[in-house]
Amino acid sequence: MESVTIQFDKESSIPMYIQLSKHIGMLIKEGKYNENEKLPTIRKLAASINVNNVTVVNAYKNLERKGYIKSMVGSGYYVTYKEHDVITTSEEEDDSFLEYDNINLMSKGQLKVCKNTINFASANPDPSQFPVEDFKRAINEVLDRDKGLAFGYQESKGYKPLRSSFTQFLKKYMDVEVAPEDLQIVSGAQQGIDIISKALINPEDYVITENPTYTGALSVFKGRGANIIGVDVNIRGINLSDLERKIVTYNPKLIYVMTKFQNPTTISYSQDTLEKLLDLANKYNVYIVEDDSLSGLNYMQEDNKINLKALDKNNKVIYVKSFSKLLMPGLRIGFIAYPPEMQEQIIKAKHSTDISSSGLIQRAMQLYLDNGNLEKHVEFMKKIFKKKYDCMNTELKALRKYGVNFIAPRGGLHFWIKLPKGVNALELYSRCSQRDVLIVPCNIFYVNPLGAANNTIRLSFAAVDEEGIIKGLNILKKELIYLLKCDNEYSEVHEEATLSPMI
Ligand SMILES: Cc1ncc(COP(=O)(O)O)c(C=O)c1O
Repeated sequence: MESVTIQFDKESSIPMYIQLSKHIGMLIKEGKYNENEKLPTIRKLAASINVNNVTVVNAYKNLERKGYIKSMVGSGYYVTYKEHDVITTSEEEDDSFLEYDNINLMSKGQLKVCKNTINFASANPDPSQFPVEDFKRAINEVLDRDKGLAFGYQESKGYKPLRSSFTQFLKKYMDVEVAPEDLQIVSGAQQGIDIISKALINPEDYVITENPTYTGALSVFKGRGANIIGVDVNIRGINLSDLERKIVTYNPKLIYVMTKFQNPTTISYSQDTLEKLLDLANKYNVYIVEDDSLSGLNYMQEDNKINLKALDKNNKVIYVKSFSKLLMPGLRIGFIAYPPEMQEQIIKAKHSTDISSSGLIQRAMQLYLDNGNLEKHVEFMKKIFKKKYDCMNTELKALRKYGVNFIAPRGGLHFWIKLPKGVNALELYSRCSQRDVLIVPCNIFYVNPLGAANNTIRLSFAAVDEEGIIKGLNILKKELIYLLKCDNEYSEVHEEATLSPMI
């Protein structure tokens, strides 16, 4: 039996278990292990190549999934590969981290969660805090008032009184003036991005996004067959000089940004960056999609509330607003404020998508908004989120002594954490998920996941209470210490999992 010796590339974005799986796969293909031969035990191999047991377990599982080996209960892993078997192309091998349990699901906006999972991956607010009674009253009032009309086909553009209410909302909270005719009701911001893409993007067009960015937007642009070009973000917003270079090179159809509490980096654009970004849009005549899912959830009194749309004098900004995090994601309500010249394309795209958003929900939302309930509810949620934010901030600060680094965001629902040198985000993710703590490794947010420095994670506090935050971060701390080789404790926790949305 050939012994396994491997030189890991510790700087690589490819996790160690994938490197190990590839290496053993190669040994098998080269005939260094024969069919039915037993592989070294997990413990023995881990000790001999100086990695933790989980790395070997994951490497073996990966090889098993690919058909190289199989496990025999109580006995170990055996080679099943025969000389003429064709298993995978090298390209599939490189992408194989996406096959790894939840990560592929995460890149599609889904998660496997168990009853006891501490879910730092989801930014879903806690349903027990949803304003069900107030919304029920609004729905009942609509049913009494509008009867069957609430269930008929609606105007594709959206229920007119709701569009008027949203224009007042924009004026009051964003200082943005838009006519109700230039507003499209959508079934959530995700649909908003999709409709804009249908209206503007053709296959092979170029789209520029921040890098990292929201995975749901990446999947829409990919689905349209667009070429996606990423531009780094820094503490003030998108890197303007790189952006200008890429606008000149690629002549993009649109630029997609999140100017408030960017997902996942949590940064908010400075006013200077907003102004210069608009200058670029005007200079090169390119549209900018401003996706605003989190403004309203700011926890610092003195914050600048201006967004890009408020500064947009030349109608270059297509503004997308979600109410999923401010109110309830299941309502599937949001809107797009678009430049007037786009009206026809936007309505056509909405009509071909789902004809119109739900008439009942649009009408109830209009009453709910006009009665001042949304404002009240956002204030209520802000207090709850702020407590969780403070709790996570305190717990994370205590991890700084292990080399963890982060900038506390000024609002929103996430923290973006840089891991200590030598700790790989995918490995930390893998270890935490075996302890029922879900975190999001940075790769999935990048335009090119394999090129990403594999050293950052996103933690959301929306779906976890304070007790869970403390417990979950304590587990994360232990796994971090383990990976820093300060501790050796490890145990597995298994429970049946169900699917849930990640966003
Ligand atoms: C940046 C961003 N845009 C859009 C969405 C989708 O929102 P909605 O539920 O309104 O479709 C999300 C969801 O998390 C998001 O984070």
